[in-house]
Amino acid sequence: MTDVSGTAATDAQAWLDRAVRADAGGNVAAAERAFLQALAHDPDLVDAHFGLGVTYFRSARYREAVLALQAVATVGAADAAIYLLLGKSLYLVGRFAESAVAFEAALTTMPLQGDSLRCYSRARTYARMIAGNIPDALADYVSRACSETEPVDVVMRDGFGLLSAYGHRDAAAALGALLIATDPDDAVQRHLNDAVAGRAIDRVPPAYVEAHFDAFADGFDDKLVKLLAYRVPEQLAGLVRHHRSAFDHILDVGCGTGLAGEHLRPLARQLSGVDLSARMLEQAARRQRYDTLDHAEALAYLAERPAAFDLVFAADTLIYFGRLNALMDAVAKSVRPGGLFAASIETASRDFEILPSGRFAHADAYVMRLADPHFELLDQQAIDIRLEANLPAKGTLFVWRRRHV
Ligand SMILES: C[S@@+](CC[C@H](N)C(=O)[O-])C[C@H]1O[C@@H](n2cnc3c(N)ncnc32)[C@H](O)[C@@H]1O
Repeated sequence: MTDVSGTAATDAQAWLDRAVRADAGGNVAAAERAFLQALAHDPDLVDAHFGLGVTYFRSARYREAVLALQAVATVGAADAAIYLLLGKSLYLVGRFAESAVAFEAALTTMPLQGDSLRCYSRARTYARMIAGNIPDALADYVSRACSETEPVDVVMRDGFGLLSAYGHRDAAAALGALLIATDPDDAVQRHLNDAVAGRAIDRVPPAYVEAHFDAFADGFDDKLVKLLAYRVPEQLAGLVRHHRSAFDHILDVGCGTGLAGEHLRPLARQLSGVDLSARMLEQAARRQRYDTLDHAEALAYLAERPAAFDLVFAADTLIYFGRLNALMDAVAKSVRPGGLFAASIETASRDFEILPSGRFAHADAYVMRLADPHFELLDQQAIDIRLEANLPAKGTLFVWRRRHV
């Protein structure tokens, strides 16, 4: 315990009261600042740690929530509500065994229900999978989750995604083997298994892209924009505008649901989009920003359109190609001399590598080396492209100009 003087304790309480008022008024930033001030005056003020933990949890800053809530538990002041929130926070940062322990601490004083019971059962199950026992973990899941039991294949598929995202490749690979055994024709699972195993592949199979995005199309915008803080279309279009703001014909390659449409439309006399997923294209069509939308594979589409565009725009599309030679050559042929190519990548230290997510990351130097024979670099900007396992994934935006040859 820290020895806090009377004045410091009074100041701490005043900051705590201010934090509680800010929180009640919905001012998250002010509440966080005031909780931190309260703790600066009295590091042991349990209510400030708890308030801070709740504030972080609500803002999806789960790692920070864990630290704040653990501070309450460490001084022995945690009740069941605090352990429940700690259990959920630990689950959301992939610390499944610790999450289960926190839920079990809550269980000593109250039964778990609803979302808490579901989260606890999954946490214990995934922890046992990491410990190496998948069949036992699944058998145990059903008895643990009781009335809150979810379909086992959903628990397995979500588990596969979580275990691979949080770096438990062996457990994910073992789970992936069980999943593919139940449906050997599942192109999505087959590719994800290859990715988790780190097999040498140099592009994401088109069958995976099509099946994955057809299934994901309805929830894509909500998940990417609201949950994963994805703003690449807007950021990349902003970077393009910095260099040129009027184009005759723009192609949005891998246009998806058309998130870039509203940012590109004001720059384009004609705006086209192409994508492998028909369901993603349906969403893009609803936006009514594109003159044409084509259901096609990007390389084939580009090959049929030499010198057709004065901007080719690729937001989060290169991540589906590992080796980029063919794509870079195809884009170069379809961009008119003097025209632009704008693209985002997720960054890696090697030329390219397949990530457990099933996407590729690339080294800046690799992409620039391949672009250089065709394009002059106009801009390069490091950004956070989206959240991955609740942490920002690092990426780069590029804008190039087609050389006159
Ligand atoms: C992550 S989404 C990005 C969508 C959009 N550009 C955006 O920023 O919101 C990637 C899109 O690229 C498409 N895609 C991936 N590989 C492709 C390929 N070889 N040909 C055409 N589209 C492809 C996918 O279908 C998907 O819609």
